[in-house]
Amino acid sequence: ATPETAGVTDDGIRRRDFLDIAAVSAAGIGGLAVVYPLVSQMAPSKDVLAASSTEVDVSAIQPGQAIKAVFRKQPLFVRRLTPAEISAAEAVATSSLRDPQTLEERTKEGHKDMLITMGVCTHLGCVPLGAAEGEVKGEFGGYFCPCHGSHYDTAGRIRKGPAPKNLEVPEYEFTSDTVIQVG
Ligand code: FES
Repeated sequence: ATPETAGVTDDGIRRRDFLDIAAVSAAGIGGLAVVYPLVSQMAPSKDVLAASSTEVDVSAIQPGQAIKAVFRKQPLFVRRLTPAEISAAEAVATSSLRDPQTLEERTKEGHKDMLITMGVCTHLGCVPLGAAEGEVKGEFGGYFCPCHGSHYDTAGRIRKGPAPKNLEVPEYEFTSDTVIQVG
């Protein structure tokens, strides 16, 4: 190579290096911009965690209906089960479950028709469907996560798909027959 063409080659390499570095930096910044909201959503600040409870009046929820509330900035599903949904949940052999729990263990005494769970898929945190009339409820009649196809049953227990755990039941209590206090 003549000194002239070698010079061009060197210059070309230097430019490519610069462009690669620029591309990596942009990807890094772009990646952070995408990841940050997810992280901030998944890890509520201490203030939010310390914030007091959420009250939900369940009197208007008919059997087979569910509503979405918010608890600690995350969706909360409040669902009144039908007798058929209760029977379906109780008919399952607990030993066959990935995360074995009975409906009784997931509800309060005398209120096994009220299922209170976080509306956060235990796989990667999407919001499952089934907390409003007309939404897809999945193969087991409870909730269905559209992100990667996890199916939860009428007790909110994981039955199929990648999620490792049942939908979380938060701390809550009935402060009257019709009002629950979560948290
Ligand atoms: Fe629900 Fe992946 S986040 S299946």
